[in-house]
Amino acid sequence: MSDLVVGLDVGTNKICTIVGEVRPDDIFVVGAGIEPSRGMKKGIVNDIGQLTAAISASVHKAERSSGYDISRAFVSVAGNHIASISSRGMVGITGTRGVNRDDLDKAMDAARAIAIPHNREVLHVVPRSYSLDGQDRVRSPLGMHGFRLELEAHIITASSTCLANLEQAVEAAGVYVDRFILNPLASGHVVLTPEEREMGVVVVDIGGGTTDLAIFIEGTVWHAAVIPVGGDHVTNDITHWMRVPFEQAEIVKIQHGHAQRKAVNMMETFLVQPFGEGMPTEVQRSGLAEIIEMRVIEIFELVQREIKRSGYDGLLRAGMVLTGGSSQLPGIREVAEQTLDMPVRVAKPERLTGLADALRSPAYSTSVGLLGLGLEMDTVHPEQPNGHSAFSGAKIGNLLGGFLKRLLPDAGVD
Ligand SMILES: Nc1ncnc2c1ncn2[C@@H]1O[C@H](COP(=O)(O)OP(=O)(O)OP(=O)(O)O)[C@@H](O)[C@H]1O
Ligand SMILES: [Mg+2]
Repeated sequence: MSDLVVGLDVGTNKICTIVGEVRPDDIFVVGAGIEPSRGMKKGIVNDIGQLTAAISASVHKAERSSGYDISRAFVSVAGNHIASISSRGMVGITGTRGVNRDDLDKAMDAARAIAIPHNREVLHVVPRSYSLDGQDRVRSPLGMHGFRLELEAHIITASSTCLANLEQAVEAAGVYVDRFILNPLASGHVVLTPEEREMGVVVVDIGGGTTDLAIFIEGTVWHAAVIPVGGDHVTNDITHWMRVPFEQAEIVKIQHGHAQRKAVNMMETFLVQPFGEGMPTEVQRSGLAEIIEMRVIEIFELVQREIKRSGYDGLLRAGMVLTGGSSQLPGIREVAEQTLDMPVRVAKPERLTGLADALRSPAYSTSVGLLGLGLEMDTVHPEQPNGHSAFSGAKIGNLLGGFLKRLLPDAGVD
């Protein structure tokens, strides 16, 4: 049982806590707790008390369903305070020995030591490629000979205040933050194939309050960003157009929504009860689709702008992988394909076993990805020949000692 880890996805729409075991071929879900979110707006905390209560409820549900006492977790981060930059680190290699892990760590520290404003902190340092005595694009220099090792790394930073507020909310719920993980990196970890990551791909997770994206090229992360627009904006547009409360607009969107007006029959209608006591009104489904399509196109134009800004727009040979709750909107794949002119597929977490039924949806890509990526970032994989994690800050050893403790027999199990 020493391989159990906990992911805590603090979304704008839902909080999801998963207790699971990451195995070579699947993730075995031991328990999960899903709770509607409160106190989050566009990926940022706006009411700590409310958020703490929602996190506590989610964690307690996961404790009851798993039978474990949860004391720490890998926690998701989003919000438009995220920034992404490249950096280089250089170290000299003394003597004629080959490059060792110590040298890699020093190169990583040198890359990390860039000047960032005092109100920001480094969330991730992802090694991109090494060069050894001027020989570029060395993937793993361990054991190779040379005098000057240079690392090109990708650095993701976040606002210290936003992280502190999130940490306070999680810790007030009795859970220690083992590590913060950027949403799209977690989603990418679970939905992308190694071939896609190698060829060049953008993963786009459209949730309720945010659209999170990450670009993977040559097997690793080259760019990441969070756009503060998501499915809630679609619902808001429906609220104004139909003059119904948000909750009702949400139901209408899920029952009748379509992201592509031309795919909807012009004659198709449905009934809606407006504000007040009036008679139900008949609504054209193609009209609803037109409203949704406009907002969805806007979201993909923002995604396109971010991809262009990164400078990697010509390198995405595997196109786009779409996930997140809003990727379930019918027609959204086609709209993405037309707007960005690239191949698009919609993905959800696969290879889940155990108590996983509720999690087999694109809405849970980040939640599930936290387990696998969190573990990868904090341990050295014995199956990797060089034993080097794809992410920095790798704590060598077993972070799981004392991580979770079994509750007394029967205690807390539903
Ligand atoms: N079947 C569906 N069809 C269309 N939209 C859906 C469907 N199911 C969920 N959604 C939308 O997905 C969004 C929630 O997605 P998700 O659960 O990924 O968000 P979140 O992770 O809580 O939020 P965020 O990541 O933005 O902080 C909501 O806007 C919801 O309306
Ligand atoms: Mg999310």
